[in-house]
Amino acid sequence: MNPEKIRIFISRQIPDNGINLLEKEKYEVRVWKNYEYISQAELMQESKNCDALLCMLSDKIDKHFLQSCNHLKVISLYSAGYNNIDLEEATRIGIPVGNTPGAMSEATADVAFGLMIATARKMFHMHKTIGRGQWGNFLPSANLGMELKGKTLGIFGLGRIGYAMAERCRAAFKMNIIYHNRNRNPDAEKELQARRVSFEDLLAQSDVISVHCGLTPETEGIFDHLAFRKMKDTVIFINTSRGKVHVESDLINALQMHWIWGAGLDVMDPEPMRPDNPLLEMENTCVLPHIGSATLEARNEMARMAAQNIIGFFREGKIPYLLNPGAIQ
Ligand code: GLV
Repeated sequence: MNPEKIRIFISRQIPDNGINLLEKEKYEVRVWKNYEYISQAELMQESKNCDALLCMLSDKIDKHFLQSCNHLKVISLYSAGYNNIDLEEATRIGIPVGNTPGAMSEATADVAFGLMIATARKMFHMHKTIGRGQWGNFLPSANLGMELKGKTLGIFGLGRIGYAMAERCRAAFKMNIIYHNRNRNPDAEKELQARRVSFEDLLAQSDVISVHCGLTPETEGIFDHLAFRKMKDTVIFINTSRGKVHVESDLINALQMHWIWGAGLDVMDPEPMRPDNPLLEMENTCVLPHIGSATLEARNEMARMAAQNIIGFFREGKIPYLLNPGAIQ
């Protein structure tokens, strides 16, 4: 295909390095520049005139979208997670889909690690007390947190991000690593002395549980009332993957009942979370607005990978970070 005829639509302004790569190929690139999210109807309209779509986690690429835009030759996701796309339908229609795995592993592990320490020491709450004039006099028994040295970290979903989190916890606090995963991770077992355990053992043995799985029908709502009930009452629950992996009302209840020590969350359901969500006002929570991948390094690398997925496809029919090989058999 003549590159000058290739039209790409990008549903959000991405870093220049990604746009530059696409423009260097002489593609015609259109970017949605509004602050408001593009609606699905507008996204369909824009996609109608394009050969490829580079889109965000906030775009719903469901069956309806895919069937209306079955002319798209390739879809490139500006994310590692792909729960916003009906991959099965894309494969059935024959649209290859790429993503950006690994680009944000270090950045997201930093957030998980930071949330773990912040929750252990109730840092977000402590910060708020100062502004409220509640610093108060020194009391040996006030404001107590907990230490992490030598504690047991339970990783739920040991992929790249889970590995990077385990690495940090091992190096900083000599934590014992246990994990629950579909498959064994021999590298983690060798390098980090990680031990694969059942889900029940992960719940029962962990001092910190850090969630790093993808959102799938199997993981949706897996951290529910029953799961929180089986954890130690001193456990710190960290979720930097997807908000739907835990049941928010069950988590709030577990925190209020002190069935668990605290929670550090970078993901919510829905996002953005409402400003009156009780999680924001609790002593034992630390909440962030889904900033796992929000570093210059990660976002630039995501832009590069997302652009390369499109370029690879149009140059030689190969997508470097392809999610559905079945689409281009
Ligand atoms: C961020 O949440 C991503 O999946 O890239």
